[in-house]
Amino acid sequence: MPTVPDRIRWAVEAVDPQPGEQILEIGCGPGAAAQLVCERLTTGHLLATDRSAVAVNRTTGRNPQHVKAGRLTVQRTALDELKLSEDSIDKAFCVNVNLFWISHAEAELAVLRQALRSGAPLFILYGSEGPTGGDRVTALVAEAVKAAGFHTVRVVTADHGLGVISHAP
Ligand SMILES: C[S@@+](CC[C@H](N)C(=O)[O-])C[C@H]1O[C@@H](n2cnc3c(N)ncnc32)[C@H](O)[C@@H]1O
Repeated sequence: MPTVPDRIRWAVEAVDPQPGEQILEIGCGPGAAAQLVCERLTTGHLLATDRSAVAVNRTTGRNPQHVKAGRLTVQRTALDELKLSEDSIDKAFCVNVNLFWISHAEAELAVLRQALRSGAPLFILYGSEGPTGGDRVTALVAEAVKAAGFHTVRVVTADHGLGVISHAP
């Protein structure tokens, strides 16, 4: 079994998936977070998305048992093109997706605002290694989610990661 980076273990602990939840991941990459999330689901479901075909193949290839069981769907899409039913998602999260601090990501946050149930949490998380470590990134992310109407915005920092948790209006 491929290894799971510490930032991913930390991120999934922060998201704290519950067995029956409908969860969305943006930028699933190699599929390590999808693996940990699906291990916690029973009746729930994870929609793991990425705009890269390589990432979609890696996530699918890493988690065939969860796809087969109907717990995991992997979809190739850029977030701003994702079509989801209104109020259909209990939690959304991403790890090391730069989109939310290099721009205000208005179109992408509009997709999330529409899909998340009112009050549902959005976790925008980063590993503490590399260029995303630091207050500069979390301040920019917090500004973007507030501008998009998300509320109860909280910055989190830990040994293995940092990020912003906010809630859909
Ligand atoms: C640095 S990787 C992180 C992958 C994984 N979450 C991790 O922490 O190992 C960022 C991923 O986000 C995806 N991504 C970036 N912008 C995206 C967007 N606008 N919509 C969907 N996926 C995106 C990239 O294709 C890439 O797979």
